[in-house]
Amino acid sequence: MQKTAPPATYRVKSFGCQMNVYDGERMAELLSAQGMSAAPDGADADLVVLNTCHIREKAAEKVYSDIGRLRREDGSSPLIAVAGCVAQAEGEEIMARAPSVRVVVGPQAYHRLPEMIERARAGERATDTDMPANTKFDVLPPRRRAAASAFLTIQEGCNKFCTYCVVPYTRGAEISRPFNDLIDEARKLVENGAREITLLGQNVNAWRGEDAGGTVISFDDLIRSLDKIPELQRIRYTTSHPMDVTDGLIAAHGEVTKLMPYLHLPVQSGSDRMLKAMNRSHSVDSYLRLLERFRAARPDIALSGDFIVGFPGETEQDFEDTLRLVDAVGYAQAYSFKFSPRPGTPAADMDGAVTAAVMDERLQRLQAAINRDQLAFNKASEGRRCAVLVERNGRKPGQWLGKSPWLQSVHFEGESEIGAMVDVELVEAGPNSISAKRI
Ligand code: SAH
Ligand code: SF4
Ligand code: F3S
Repeated sequence: MQKTAPPATYRVKSFGCQMNVYDGERMAELLSAQGMSAAPDGADADLVVLNTCHIREKAAEKVYSDIGRLRREDGSSPLIAVAGCVAQAEGEEIMARAPSVRVVVGPQAYHRLPEMIERARAGERATDTDMPANTKFDVLPPRRRAAASAFLTIQEGCNKFCTYCVVPYTRGAEISRPFNDLIDEARKLVENGAREITLLGQNVNAWRGEDAGGTVISFDDLIRSLDKIPELQRIRYTTSHPMDVTDGLIAAHGEVTKLMPYLHLPVQSGSDRMLKAMNRSHSVDSYLRLLERFRAARPDIALSGDFIVGFPGETEQDFEDTLRLVDAVGYAQAYSFKFSPRPGTPAADMDGAVTAAVMDERLQRLQAAINRDQLAFNKASEGRRCAVLVERNGRKPGQWLGKSPWLQSVHFEGESEIGAMVDVELVEAGPNSISAKRI
């Protein structure tokens, strides 16, 4: 392999969860700090980073079709780096299956991208899937740009080992970023235009830290500290785990005005038998009691969840219990997935596989129930007055898009700008967005 010219332009494509989006932004900032510039939309890039997701089979297979699509008409390829969770889980396989990939870098090692690109330019193929806890954050360049709504990873990894899930293997053990670093990064984001910060973690509410005086503090203390940053208007977080919900977090929803009335609390199934097989460490009942307490603290809170249908051994009765749970909660929004057996996870070897046809049918029924509730939630907001944080221009001239406190997509017309908080009345709701007028 000949030595190639240094890449002048890059593109980072992120798949999967918001944490990958955050990592993608930090990789882009790192590459920019090296003197490269982002390739304009649609233009060819010298370096392409595929920041991949391993959560379900379809997501993981996507990387190979994407690599294929990067081949240029003359047969050449850009310098391809595969990052993210597929890189972590299947680095060697990627190198073997896809000769055009020059760099494989895991989610905890991407601060080393520049030197790896150098090695790739010299003709080597570079792999780094080390998991040095927290070090990447110490060496990444400081945040330099921020959208009106910005992400901030505060916690990574997972110790829960749900039997279906790859995250404990691809992201490693739970680690919390230090309190001071987070306050600094939040301030930087706000200085650069962020008005809303979404705190990210696989189990964001497992975050633990020490304040300036060395006192051990938990997730809700962090929220209360961020609340004191003057120009910051809104705080959100995702994803939280039922097991790590504390009294303090529930109370914060009633007390911290910048904390938005929205809670994504995955449950996965409405059957205790399935929850046990999934190693979820909560029951249907304990989950419902948690939600009730959140609703008592913040009556208008919008609830969201994740569901898996077709977990091994799931019977029609188990599935109907899930539908019953959905009916009982009335989610404002929820995500549902067909079980995907992931290599190396205990559930991949469990008996009682549910057929593809049954999984399809259950997913459709579940999604119909979720869509029904989502529309009902949005319809119930018609006539409500609220603030919208403007995030971008709409498709029509003079149209603006933003989010309500309940994370609904809202569009309105008139004078405004990105980053503005605009008071509106919600007028007409559809399943996925709401039209509003300024007041
Ligand atoms: N850390 C988060 C979720 C991470 S993955 C949490 O625990 O809440 C996001 C969602 O993907 C999960 O909540 C689950 O619903 C789904 N998921 C994870 N592994 C899956 C698998 N093997 N098959 C299907 N869905 C899966
Ligand atoms: Fe996966 Fe469970 Fe950890 Fe969530 S809590 S990341 S579903 S193992
Ligand atoms: Fe996917 Fe990794 Fe996120 S597997 S969901 S990108 S933590």
